[in-house]
Amino acid sequence: MAKRGKLTVVYGPMFAGKTTWLVRHTEKLQKAGKQVSVFSPKLDDRYGKDAHLHAHSGLSTAATLVDEKHVGAMRDEFARLGAGATAIFDEAMFFATDIVDTVTSLLEQGVDVVAAGLDLDYRRQPFGVMPTLMAMADEAVPLTAQCYKCGETAAYTERLAGGEGEIVVGAADKYQPACERCHQVYAEA
Ligand code: TMP
Ligand code: MG
Ligand code: ZN
Repeated sequence: MAKRGKLTVVYGPMFAGKTTWLVRHTEKLQKAGKQVSVFSPKLDDRYGKDAHLHAHSGLSTAATLVDEKHVGAMRDEFARLGAGATAIFDEAMFFATDIVDTVTSLLEQGVDVVAAGLDLDYRRQPFGVMPTLMAMADEAVPLTAQCYKCGETAAYTERLAGGEGEIVVGAADKYQPACERCHQVYAEA
């Protein structure tokens, strides 16, 4: 049986460099001749419908768009990944809970998994499946940004517009990173 894969979870607020970290990690693995598959939820259409990960920094890498509500439907694609390969999931908080079973199967298959996402939503509440993935992780990589109000280390994301739903796709038009003292929870006027 293949050696169990390793689960790495990269988390933090928006503008902390999560996707940049994934793009760099992908490049490193590719340079080392490793098989890497990158998956991104269809929901995140901030940069159009092309199959790429896009970091706020401008870096990007090719990715397969997946239906975040039915990751299990990709079973055949995941089964093709051999031991020693790496599967990367960005915006993991958008995936339905069946991603947990997918990740578990991949690890058992000997595939390393890297999942990145927001640990907390704009209300500072645990975001989707992220806390579960963090609890399962062999390695956690916490990233932070700079507070847009005072410049201190920011672990939270402040919503500036877009209503009160938990999921509102957006970038700097709707969100900024904020620190513990400055962070405010958006409420409709
Ligand atoms: P990013 O971490 O790659 O910048 O992307 C985070 C995405 O999550 C972005 O599309 C905005 C979205 N989001 C929500 O849907 N709800 C939230 O509460 C927050 C903070 C972000
Ligand atoms: Mg990102
Ligand atoms: Zn601040």
